[in-house]
Amino acid sequence: MEVKKVKLIYFSPTGTTRKILESIAGGIRVEDVEQIDLTLPEGAEQPIQFFSDELVLIGAPVYGGRLPIDAINRFKSLKADGALAVPIVVYGNREFEDSLLELKDLAVELGFHPVAGGAFIGEHSFATEEVPIANGRPDSLDVQRATDFGAQIKDKVTALQSSDVPMNLEIPGRFPYEGGARSMTVSPVTREDICTVCGTCASRCPTAAISINGSVTTEVELCIRCCACIKNCPTRARVWQDSTMETIANWLNENCADRKEPQVFGVDA
Ligand SMILES: Cc1cc2nc3c(=O)[nH]c(=O)nc-3n(C[C@H](O)[C@H](O)[C@H](O)COP(=O)(O)O)c2cc1C
Ligand code: SF4
Ligand code: SF4
Repeated sequence: MEVKKVKLIYFSPTGTTRKILESIAGGIRVEDVEQIDLTLPEGAEQPIQFFSDELVLIGAPVYGGRLPIDAINRFKSLKADGALAVPIVVYGNREFEDSLLELKDLAVELGFHPVAGGAFIGEHSFATEEVPIANGRPDSLDVQRATDFGAQIKDKVTALQSSDVPMNLEIPGRFPYEGGARSMTVSPVTREDICTVCGTCASRCPTAAISINGSVTTEVELCIRCCACIKNCPTRARVWQDSTMETIANWLNENCADRKEPQVFGVDA
């Protein structure tokens, strides 16, 4: 089958998932690449229909070894009619646990035929310069692996006949899925002494938890701890001031320092 068009569909608050999908698409080498970014609140409101000659890369970060609830809810508005798909998760150098299996199963439920899958590594959302966790990833090695993976996907799809029975893609993981992001009512706070009230944090928040009205207000119950507001604040005015979040970040820094490598499924490792 010829790959004529590639669509990247993702939920990616801090941008590492988007970067991995773009690198994979680079390795597929087709002119027609479309991005469907479902990260922001309006992403939840777009019903999309796919055609069967498209290759879809569908990506999300790992939260607590699972998919973020908001990613699942946004992806559920998609429908496919047998389009080939590649589920991708990106995790912060701890573990991806059941998340890739969960994404593959969701893709099947939506009508996609998964042909390959991958788990890649991105800088951990909770990482800072002072408490690094996979800082700077995906780096050049990750990008190269993602690009090579794209070429492998293209070879696999090109070798398929349209009459081929959809393959069963084997992905590691447990079912029923376990884990999930822990439930915490906490959000980053704003250092008013250095906040310029520019509004960037509000415009990047996937759950519309932040409003700007002369100053920055955060609706703590809506916060999913994605850290998009922290990583995009130009003056570093968004910070965690929470002892549990500090403990988690320090634990990850101490226990997840050994470099993990991307894993791919459905093509040669
Ligand atoms: C609430 C939350 C839970 C997370 N849980 C995990 C996890 O279980 N394992 C892991 O390795 N990384 C975990 N991460 C880190 C993200 O998976 C990682 O930083 C990813 O690259 C973020 O993707 P994005 O840049 O597309 O938002 C978590 C991040 C957040 C915000
Ligand atoms: S992005 Fe930073 S500087 Fe801008 S309004 Fe938000 S907290 Fe303030
Ligand atoms: S307020 Fe919470 S949900 Fe919104 S961007 Fe910041 S960390 Fe993410």
